[in-house]
Amino acid sequence: MPVAKLTNNKPRERLLTLKDPQKLKTEELMAILIGHGVKGRNVFDLSEYIVNFLRKNNELPKIEDLVSIEGVGKVKALQIISALELGRRFYQEETEKNIEGIKLKTKDDWDFADVPLKVRQGGVHFFHHYTAKFIPQIPEKFIRKYSKGNDIVVDPFMGCGTTLITAKLLGNHSYGVDTNPLAVKISETKTMVVNERSVKEIDDFIRWISSRRENYNRTNSSYRAEEKDIFLFEGSKDWFREDVAGKVKNILNRAKSYSPDIQNFIKVGVSDLLKGMSNARMDANVPTLPPCPVYIDKKHYYREVNNKTRNIPVYSRVLSQVLRMKRAILEFNKETDRRLICKPILGDARELSKYIKSCNLVITSPPYWSAQNYQKLHMLSFKLFGLKIDEEDEVGRNGHGRYQEDMAKIQSEIAKILKGYYGLVIGEDTRDQEHLRVVESAKRAGFKLVDTFVRRLSNQTAFSKQIKDEFIYVFKI
Ligand SMILES: C[S@@+](CC[C@H](N)C(=O)[O-])C[C@H]1O[C@@H](n2cnc3c(N)ncnc32)[C@H](O)[C@@H]1O
Repeated sequence: MPVAKLTNNKPRERLLTLKDPQKLKTEELMAILIGHGVKGRNVFDLSEYIVNFLRKNNELPKIEDLVSIEGVGKVKALQIISALELGRRFYQEETEKNIEGIKLKTKDDWDFADVPLKVRQGGVHFFHHYTAKFIPQIPEKFIRKYSKGNDIVVDPFMGCGTTLITAKLLGNHSYGVDTNPLAVKISETKTMVVNERSVKEIDDFIRWISSRRENYNRTNSSYRAEEKDIFLFEGSKDWFREDVAGKVKNILNRAKSYSPDIQNFIKVGVSDLLKGMSNARMDANVPTLPPCPVYIDKKHYYREVNNKTRNIPVYSRVLSQVLRMKRAILEFNKETDRRLICKPILGDARELSKYIKSCNLVITSPPYWSAQNYQKLHMLSFKLFGLKIDEEDEVGRNGHGRYQEDMAKIQSEIAKILKGYYGLVIGEDTRDQEHLRVVESAKRAGFKLVDTFVRRLSNQTAFSKQIKDEFIYVFKI
């Protein structure tokens, strides 16, 4: 869209006279902010250029993007970023949403409907699939809005570590608790502090696996057994073809020669690919064996799958996964301060105060009252790595009454350690209104509800027909 040229070259005077910044053009406001131009580019040309640049990029710009504009040095870049951030923090636009005929005021848009998958799953977030994880934009927005920086952020239902990653990227300390040992492994890997030794070990593994990478013209028989024993776990023969099991075994054996964090790194990479390399049906979320090796994959265009002959290039897949993971973890380490505490804890949120003594922010999305069975969903990884969850510890797996009891206990634990804001991301239960009971128990634990935001879920992200939208309740102690 062409931007009208500035007609008045005295924006400061205009603001003094008009007394209303809304009456000035954006370019004029920018000119007031940056103050002066540079040799060969006056303040108006420069302002116009910067404003066009900002319009094209919907997000808060990075310093390096701004200084790449001719005439913008570090000082101007910092002025612009600070002004944009101040505006965002203080004066979000009020929007009104109509949900099922009820008008709800929301100060912000929490839908993030336009955020592409690449961004939602960018950085280290892609390391491992995890059902019911929230998109990083939610904790990011919450932390930006309610944190004063350098805070301690806690997620009592950490899952695969989305809150911890975001908190660290925004310069905060963080702790997360989860009963799922796989979730803890994933979170540890995503938030790992990398040093020279870790890079050397990852590179060594990459060299090792590159030399074994499958040649696509050859058949599966190209696999060379490095060990006779290809036993992975009890019953693994049903789940993995011999060549696949052998290669997975070789990879895990190789991993043993590295330090524990790199072993974890490799295991998480393998775990993410495991179901796709197994004989499990491609059209089922919970690993399920098809009745015979040749079956119809109902989820992906009704194609025929032949588990006996299909190409499963284990080494190539793991190689490309580990290469992507290495790039992302190095970037994460570059962007974050390694001195920040970032600690995933294997534990039970009902005993939160046993692990964490105090914090300034809590942001979490609890399991639902009919929660996912993570042990079943990730059955192959659990078996391969010898993991276990005690179902008694899992919130939401033992009926509605018990769910509310557990949530009440956890919220009173949060109240014990929190000095600040608590963000609860929870689906709207259109049938039984369970979400409202959770809000009531938060109030009973001593919290005051200070904000409510609505997040409209797309058809793909909606949990079920019963839950169409999510609420972000913000409490303060
Ligand atoms: C909706 S998921 C959270 C996902 C997370 N926000 C993320 O982005 O990955 C809920 C999590 O609560 C965990 N959970 C269930 N019962 C728990 C308990 N008693 N203590 C701690 N975590 C528990 C589950 O294992 C699951 O990872």
